[in-house]
Amino acid sequence: MTHLYSTEQYKTAFITYMEATIKAKEPANLYDPIAYMLRLGGKRIRPILTLMATDLFGGNASAAMDAALAVEMFHSFSLVHDDIMDAAPLRRGKPTVHEKWDANTGILSGDAMLLQAYQLFEGYSPATFKSLVKLFSKTALQVCEGQQYDMDFQQRNDVSLREYTTMIMYKTAVLLAAALKIGAIIAEANRKEADALYRFGENLGLAFQIQDDYLDAFGDMATFGKQIGGDILENKKTFLLLQAMTLASDDQVKALRHWYSIQPEDCTAKIEAVTTIFRESGAVQETQKQIVQYTRKAFEALDTIAVPDAKKEAFRMFGESLMARTV
Ligand code: IPE
Ligand code: IPE
Ligand code: MG
Ligand code: MG
Ligand code: MG
Repeated sequence: MTHLYSTEQYKTAFITYMEATIKAKEPANLYDPIAYMLRLGGKRIRPILTLMATDLFGGNASAAMDAALAVEMFHSFSLVHDDIMDAAPLRRGKPTVHEKWDANTGILSGDAMLLQAYQLFEGYSPATFKSLVKLFSKTALQVCEGQQYDMDFQQRNDVSLREYTTMIMYKTAVLLAAALKIGAIIAEANRKEADALYRFGENLGLAFQIQDDYLDAFGDMATFGKQIGGDILENKKTFLLLQAMTLASDDQVKALRHWYSIQPEDCTAKIEAVTTIFRESGAVQETQKQIVQYTRKAFEALDTIAVPDAKKEAFRMFGESLMARTV
């Protein structure tokens, strides 16, 4: 692989590489869930971004495969633990690891995935290794911080938009940004260009998580692959909820406060009532507007990168396609 492949080609090449590294090992209850998780599917957007970024700056995408896999391993690990924390039954249309096995299995297999992710950096030259691990560890800690805020916010009903934005920046956006910067590091891009691409990733990541919030309430389980309404049942402080709390009528706000203070037996009633307010208050419209705005901001960052426009076009198309996603 040299340069300018389509995102589909990057994805296929990545999956082929990943498959070759998955080995059945003992103890099975440690390694089977890892293979299960990696093979579940998923969009593979983070490794694709790593490979694209390497290419963008004239690097060799093959040399970025291990790092791309490290990013995907870390992502999948975070999902295994996230699903325990969010009591989620479904992931990528299949039972979550803690449902198929149990929570303890999910905790330990997740830990092993994180360690395997680190091992994937071992083949890089000392200088590259150091930069990659430094960025990776910093990012991983930020993801933990974001995840803790997400959990803390479940117990609060005064979360501000600013706090929410910090939370999603950490739990989601920084990993997309880091996936890109990792590619830039491998391609030995200069600092300024790498930072601009990082900012592209941050804004794309914010758009991506707001879209995830939207799909969690209004997506289709068959394509989205997760339980619809899960965030509502878990009292998650999503973009939809924060917008509804500012836009809704007094009566609607009162109703929301009520629904978010109880854990009803009848889950469908809560989801139905809350999504109706999301729609009627204008929160849905505002959410869609925000997704477009952050994507636009991402493109502005992309514009500042000094490489030919043709090379950046793939990133723009990728951003556009994420906005239209139902998956
Ligand atoms: C899910 O990420 C977790 C979020 C940050 C919203 P993805 O939507 O990229 O999940 P997969 O890997 O495609 O399943
Ligand atoms: C994802 O947040 C953040 C991480 C997994 C780090 P969510 O909890 O919204 O992700 P999904 O919706 O379960 O994929
Ligand atoms: Mg979560
Ligand atoms: Mg979750
Ligand atoms: Mg979600």
